[in-house]
Amino acid sequence: MMKKILKMLATAALGLGLLAGPAMASGGAQKNAPDHDYSFEGPFGTFDRAQLQRGWEVFRQVCSSCHSLKYLRFRNLAEPGGPEFTIEQAKAFAAEYEVQDGPNDEGEMFTRPARLSDAFPSPYPNEQAAKAANNGALPPDLSLIVKAREGWYYPWYISPFIKLVKGNGGAEYVRALISGYEEPPHGEEKEGLNYNPYFPGHWIAMPPPLAGEDVEYLDGTPNTVEQEATDVAAFLAWVSMPKMEERKKIGFMALLYLLVFALLMFMVKHAIWSNVKH
Ligand code: HEC
Repeated sequence: MMKKILKMLATAALGLGLLAGPAMASGGAQKNAPDHDYSFEGPFGTFDRAQLQRGWEVFRQVCSSCHSLKYLRFRNLAEPGGPEFTIEQAKAFAAEYEVQDGPNDEGEMFTRPARLSDAFPSPYPNEQAAKAANNGALPPDLSLIVKAREGWYYPWYISPFIKLVKGNGGAEYVRALISGYEEPPHGEEKEGLNYNPYFPGHWIAMPPPLAGEDVEYLDGTPNTVEQEATDVAAFLAWVSMPKMEERKKIGFMALLYLLVFALLMFMVKHAIWSNVKH
């Protein structure tokens, strides 16, 4: 018995060690992203429409010069649960981009303005061109980056440990990363790389994308680096989880249904067994 418990403990410790490993390795510990109270957290959280609209502006005017969003269709921008632009606005956004289509009757590929059904295009014609323009580093597609950096895809009984070891993930990580560049310690320098304590290994090929006042916010929100980073991270969270609000609503209704059903079953049981003598 004792041996069995010891073995279980050892396995658990090894598991945690393996999970912690990547965070501790390479170039010192990654700095924990500060917590931020996003409106979409928790079982009832929803996205803040105005924030998503501001985040879209930051993405489109700053990040889209290097990053694509290949799973975002322009029509999604006008769908419920997202930034909820009007169809006309979404059409106007799409029309600003050129996408490749074809072949036409002559067998040639051609470009045309994007439509609502098109995905947000990559600024580069191919991966090689993207790398060549960024010192050999590939700017990743950001469609799923918030999910990919979240760590919550582990089961619920493991995820609290991941959070302990790896810190805040998801939107909070993206927010901290793009607003958290620092001067490298001891005047160290690396060709084509920038110092960022939130990035694993600390040296990132992406230059600081935000300087403050990068976009004009029509709703009068101050356009500081921190605000822009907070908004664009929220926008990318929505792109990663476009159906989050619907999912939470259905989950709640399902629980409510089960509760009512359980009550009903209890009453049925009572009705059937109340006349039977124990
Ligand atoms: C000048 C080009 C450029 C711009 C502009 C840019 N990025 Fe990047 N980004 C990169 C490159 C290159 C990488 C890959 C870095 C690496 O692997 O070292 C990257 C990586 C990332 C990553 C992944 C980090 C990780 O954990 O792997 C995120 C998130 C990101 N960028 C977000 C943004 C956001 C948000 C914006 C707009 C505010 C933005 N980027 C603007 C070039 C850019």
